[in-house]
Amino acid sequence: MSTKEQLLQKFEQRTAKVGVIGLGYVGLPLAVEFARAGFHVVGYDVSERVVDLVNDGRSHIKDVPGSAVAALVKEGRLEATTDAARIAEIDAISIAVPTPLAKTRDPDMSYVVSATDTVARSARPGQLIVLESTTYPGTTRELLLPAMEAHGLVVGRDVFLAFSPERVDPGNEKWNTKNTPKVVGGITAACTDVAVAFYKACIDSVVPVSSPEAAELTKLLENTFRSVNIGLVNEMAIVCDRLGVNVWEVIDAAGTKPFGFMRFTPGPGIGGHCIPLDPHYLAWKMRTLNYKTRFIDLASEINSQMPAYVVEKVVAALNDERKAVNGSRVLVIGVAYKRDIDDVRESPALDVIRLLEEMDADVAYHDPYVSTFREDGIEHSSVELSDAELKGCDAVVIVTDHTSIDYQRLVNRASLIVDTRNATRRTTPGRARIVSLSATNPLVAEEHPTPVVAGKVVA
Ligand SMILES: NC(=O)c1ccc[n+]([C@@H]2O[C@H](COP(=O)([O-])OP(=O)(O)OC[C@H]3O[C@@H](n4cnc5c(N)ncnc54)[C@H](O)[C@@H]3O)[C@@H](O)[C@H]2O)c1
Repeated sequence: MSTKEQLLQKFEQRTAKVGVIGLGYVGLPLAVEFARAGFHVVGYDVSERVVDLVNDGRSHIKDVPGSAVAALVKEGRLEATTDAARIAEIDAISIAVPTPLAKTRDPDMSYVVSATDTVARSARPGQLIVLESTTYPGTTRELLLPAMEAHGLVVGRDVFLAFSPERVDPGNEKWNTKNTPKVVGGITAACTDVAVAFYKACIDSVVPVSSPEAAELTKLLENTFRSVNIGLVNEMAIVCDRLGVNVWEVIDAAGTKPFGFMRFTPGPGIGGHCIPLDPHYLAWKMRTLNYKTRFIDLASEINSQMPAYVVEKVVAALNDERKAVNGSRVLVIGVAYKRDIDDVRESPALDVIRLLEEMDADVAYHDPYVSTFREDGIEHSSVELSDAELKGCDAVVIVTDHTSIDYQRLVNRASLIVDTRNATRRTTPGRARIVSLSATNPLVAEEHPTPVVAGKVVA
């Protein structure tokens, strides 16, 4: 039986040992899914804290219930280790380590390089190795393939190498690791076959593509698509503000078109490990080929200016109340980068807080999922959402619209709210004056609407 047939048989019979390198937002759910599918899974991570947590049957990832980890660890299906030598035991390895940007906004490939070295050192015939970290097109072929070949292994015969982008969406209750289709592209056709069979063992739908580059670019297209459309709708919020039109009304109305329109919503900017970073991997790669990716650059420029736009709104709103930002108490609601998650990486809330603090505002925050976070060496702690805090502050800024927040209570207690997410849309009028990202719409309430152009009423 060939190496390929042996591996396929091990997947079929669930006797293959599965390894996941990097047990974070991507790796832990994947490890749990393979363990649930009946495989013995070994998670390898350089963080002792993460490894100890998993072996203790606890989860550090909000979307993965601790009870699921505990049950799989108890059954002996899931274990974690910091011992790289264990990788030699593993038949199928998924690498899910971070791919951040350096300060220069160039890719920081150090984690992928280090994980590749670790895997290559233990590589042996009969292994499948899949890179899942989001990266620039060419990474699998340029970084991983030579590392395997340097160990005397023929890719496509002795070992099988592929790229398969992770599409996990933290906080999404409908789409998870198991039911989100998985794109797979191998270095050779045999590599694709083996990788497809591997993922089919635990993921509902697997989509083969012709090469690792096609798979790498698929992920970058998906996230660039989001970044560009968010940039467009953020610019639309600014446009609507200048025109005196409510952007939320316009988006809702456009959303009634049954075809050709996809709803995106404006906000305080983009965050997380994906949307703000991934498009820059593609932009960087294309710069090396002397091509400028203009959509990526423009979207990034607009999205990264949104925190400053929000702060301008706060300054103007306080000014209307005859208050200076300097010395005003500003309560930020939500610091996670999006609703109902606990991740503050690249969160626009951090920029909003920094910009307000630079203007000497007295800034506090409340986030039900983020009790503390550290930025530039300073620790910030979530304050209680007490009546005294709401009544005492000069402005509330809703940056992240967590569903567990009682927005009616904010409207009833606070005096001024800058709502960057339209979170107060279902509230009834209370004590607070509400300022939106764009003009709130006077037109719907009036029988004879008065068009407003560039801030001037057209008679
Ligand atoms: N978080 C998301 O929503 C998401 C979604 C899709 C794709 N991705 C991509 O998946 C990859 C992983 O992201 P994440 O959010 O899971 O990161 P993470 O920071 O949550 O987890 C990465 C883990 O890898 C470990 N690690 C770092 N270097 C290592 C090494 N050399 N060997 C072993 N372990 C190592 C870290 O200790 C950490 O536990 C990134 O490329 C990211 O762009 C993330």
